[in-house]
Amino acid sequence: MTTILDGKSLSQTLRQEIAEEVAFFVAQTGITPCLAAILVGEDPASQVYVRNKERACANVGMKSVLFRLPAETTSEELLTLVEKLNHDATVHGILVQLPLPPQIDEKTILDAISPDKDVDAFHPANVGLILQGRPRFLPCTPFGIQEMLRRYGIETAGKHVVILGRSDIVGKPMGAMMVQRSQGADATVTICHSKTANLPAVTRLADILIVAIGRPRFVTAEMVKPGAVVVDVGINRTEEGLVGDVDFEAVKEVASAITPVPGGVGPLTITMLLGNTLKAARGI
Ligand code: GUN
Repeated sequence: MTTILDGKSLSQTLRQEIAEEVAFFVAQTGITPCLAAILVGEDPASQVYVRNKERACANVGMKSVLFRLPAETTSEELLTLVEKLNHDATVHGILVQLPLPPQIDEKTILDAISPDKDVDAFHPANVGLILQGRPRFLPCTPFGIQEMLRRYGIETAGKHVVILGRSDIVGKPMGAMMVQRSQGADATVTICHSKTANLPAVTRLADILIVAIGRPRFVTAEMVKPGAVVVDVGINRTEEGLVGDVDFEAVKEVASAITPVPGGVGPLTITMLLGNTLKAARGI
């Protein structure tokens, strides 16, 4: 029987745990953890994500403030807001929703967020700490995947983790985390991308296959070793609705465990953001 890795139900458990920790922290300190989210422009998917983040904060007893800026906002205007939030002691986490409009240089903005409030873990100082195995924050999607593997009792030590996709948000940090000498890691890691030669031969080596390439149903059953664990990060809007990067129906017949889309990795990403905001409020 294939295990369906239920991110929705795991998220509920984790959010309950976070809510209890928040209540304890507020009772002890009188401080309510607060996430500031900045949304520039009208991207419909980003609007949904930001709304979900606000709702999730409220449900665990945290505050959130949303700054909606027009699509024509300049880098300077956005930098001014980030600087203001960096110095606002009532704000513990800052999240600039990506993607940003083309006139804004993403790197300049992400680099300007105080590393102590960088709950996305996108700042180069935080990325460096992850690579060195002493993270301040872990990036929300890879963190959620690692926590899911841990909570489902999926062994990673000595396993071959193959990651499909080399993004700064998922693929690269996921690889950096899984290769660490630590619990929930200790894996042998391969990161594949669009230039990888003979991709199916590489993905078939995976004990754990993590897919984040943004191409609907790209991973077929032939690309998966029987018994592998398959984690699908993709969320693609198609005419048939939301689908992942993995051909779920076919691959579930081969895999020992697999995440669905929706209801797999997605809910965990916001959950880990809540955990990071609480951590930021605690002062790391
Ligand atoms: N856009 C898509 N994913 C993310 C994320 O994890 N963080 C932010 N800030 N924007 C995103």
